[in-house]
Amino acid sequence: MVRAEAVVDLAAIRHNVAALRARLSSAELMTVVKADGYGHGMAPVARAARQAGADWIGVAVLEEALELRAAGDNGPIFCWLTTPGEPLARAIANDIDLSAGAPWEIDELAAGVTDRPARVHLKIDTGLGRGGAVPEEWPTLIRAALKEQKTGRIVITGIWSHLASSDEPKSPVNEAQVATFESAVAVAESLGVDPGFKHLANSGGTLALPETHFDLVRPGIATYGLSPFGHALPSAELGLRPAMTLRARLAMAKRVPAGAGVSYGLTWTAPKPSTLGLVPLGYGDGLPRHASNGAPVQVHGIRRSVVGRICMDQCVVNLDDGDAAAGDEVVLFGPGDHGEPTADDWADAAGTINYEIVTRLGPRIPRRYVNEVTG
Ligand SMILES: Cc1ncc(COP(=O)(O)O)c(C=O)c1O
Repeated sequence: MVRAEAVVDLAAIRHNVAALRARLSSAELMTVVKADGYGHGMAPVARAARQAGADWIGVAVLEEALELRAAGDNGPIFCWLTTPGEPLARAIANDIDLSAGAPWEIDELAAGVTDRPARVHLKIDTGLGRGGAVPEEWPTLIRAALKEQKTGRIVITGIWSHLASSDEPKSPVNEAQVATFESAVAVAESLGVDPGFKHLANSGGTLALPETHFDLVRPGIATYGLSPFGHALPSAELGLRPAMTLRARLAMAKRVPAGAGVSYGLTWTAPKPSTLGLVPLGYGDGLPRHASNGAPVQVHGIRRSVVGRICMDQCVVNLDDGDAAAGDEVVLFGPGDHGEPTADDWADAAGTINYEIVTRLGPRIPRRYVNEVTG
């Protein structure tokens, strides 16, 4: 490491994928690697997931699906977010399973077909209020899909939806969504559809709601060893291992007198003579500026705090009376096994969720993979 790095433990990814798989009775597993594998690196995570038994890989957008194919992933891939005019023909020619939640999507898929039918998962909005046909529009979507299936241009390979509140397993919303999903499947069957893969569960559903498993589950965050339930049910209790450690080298360490102000706006002043360490990472690297004055780090095995505002490229930590020098290691977050802060601790400091902490880390931070299995 020179300036900073995110170390990604692919053994942890494989462990988490296997642990998730072990929770399924008959359902298949789709590992979700969208947004550059939640910041961990899409292709290396997808490879590790396949090695550990992931049947499917899930991505949000077409570019991600095509990038995986270009990286040599030949297994089932599902991609669920497209807008009018996207190059669906390329996706179909690359055997990417696609989603349709409105008749225009069926039309575009059919129009993109050349030598093989488009593989389509029909999406019902069971209550999240995001993509998918609302129950009132569902029969219209089904009829449009059946019409194109008869022409041989599309083949229905799944029916799916997404959970709104699986991070609160006791919420009645989960039960309501399962009921809506089941009745949508029944409507599709009554109109003559063979639903193929029925899928609904994200990490929360996979871990806490077996009734949401159906034929296929789509966990994302749990793959990376982070809990969808935050501190309410930490990853260790779920048998998951956080895969990422973010570390850097101090760019400077210096003593300042009592009363010295720190960073833009001088929102922190030293209450006594103090040692300050300069961390060469900032919001330009994805650190949340909201975590200014409070985000935790570890230096020489001791927990310290970011003081003052997090800047674009740098932030300052208060090392109190500790000895430190430029080049010393600072751990921003990791699995927590050695007392270092976790992504959940950063999420707390920023008023956000662990998903955002890892996913927003930018391309300026090199990812270093450990425990990769090649071949
Ligand atoms: C459609 C879909 N399925 C699955 C996931 C994975 O969710 P999680 O990371 O909570 O497991 C996501 C991510 O938001 C998603 O949008």
